[in-house]
Amino acid sequence: MRFPALRSRKWLLTSTISFVVFSAITCLYAQEQASSAQTAPAPSTAAAVSPGEELYKQNCMACHAADGTGIGRNPALVSDRFKKRYGAYDKAFAFISDKMPENAPGSLREEEYEAIVKYVLSLNGIPTDFSDIAGHWAEGAITALQRKQAVDGYTVNGSLLFKPDQPITRAEFVAYLVKAKQLFLSNDSGSAWKDIGKSKYKTYIVTAVEYGIVDGYPDSTFRPDKPISRAEIAAIVTRSEVLDAEGSTALSFRDVPSGHWAGSVIQAAVRAELFNGYEDGTFRPDQSISRAEAAAVLNRIVP
Ligand code: HEC
Repeated sequence: MRFPALRSRKWLLTSTISFVVFSAITCLYAQEQASSAQTAPAPSTAAAVSPGEELYKQNCMACHAADGTGIGRNPALVSDRFKKRYGAYDKAFAFISDKMPENAPGSLREEEYEAIVKYVLSLNGIPTDFSDIAGHWAEGAITALQRKQAVDGYTVNGSLLFKPDQPITRAEFVAYLVKAKQLFLSNDSGSAWKDIGKSKYKTYIVTAVEYGIVDGYPDSTFRPDKPISRAEIAAIVTRSEVLDAEGSTALSFRDVPSGHWAGSVIQAAVRAELFNGYEDGTFRPDQSISRAEAAAVLNRIVP
């Protein structure tokens, strides 16, 4: 046992030294760059122009002006009509990437559309980046899901918030799962459920029910705005990921007695490492989870 320890310490030492040397070199290089930048400023004003603006100017200005007004018979992109029809990132993305390539000179890549869409939304004063996740432990997972257009947020006083620490509702969790997994959306009207008619996630709820991923309650309610519980999520991911809920393990949680309705799905979700119990031996099946924790679970399911 002594040898590996010695070796690893040596390795640590060598890597630390090379890191220090490397950093010193990078630092010198950066200084050099900075001083040459001072003497000879870059000719372009590229820093001020976002990639989206650049791409918009290259691809869209044959028919829409720089400030978003229309040219000739082509419509304006800054308008109440735009805000109403395409005022959310996913809607604007769907329209622009689907309808405008026929017009745009070259074919654009997905990231290029993302940038253009963000730019067109910004012309309309619509924020597209969450302003409350920088430095949050789940920032990576949230951003990854946002790039897949699987999550949305709340627009409050002109900023877009993710509200990472707020409990996630049943409707939100189901909608984000359906979007992340890109399931085919149902056309059903959802009339079987008493209380989803007004939910903006109605289509996603109906889709998830049709796929057999989630169930409503026996009284024909879905309770879309209720925070979802850990046990409910375990049941949902066990179905959506087709986990083996029959397998038996010695796993047991103090607060999940045998015969608990979610006993086997909790075990399945924990075995699949989608979920953890707590160090005190509990699972806390009825506890809600935050939107950030949900993002972490979803990002594990759909990496
Ligand atoms: C060759 C001309 C042409 C080019 C190039 C073009 N568009 Fe359009 N755009 C149109 C026309 C025509 C319409 C209306 C047709 C429609 O609604 O389907 C339109 C509609 C739109 C709308 C919907 C506006 C509304 O209120 O209905 C958006 C948003 C849009 N374009 C964005 C873009 C973006 C972004 C680009 C660059 C990637 C682009 N367009 C390139 C001609 C063009």
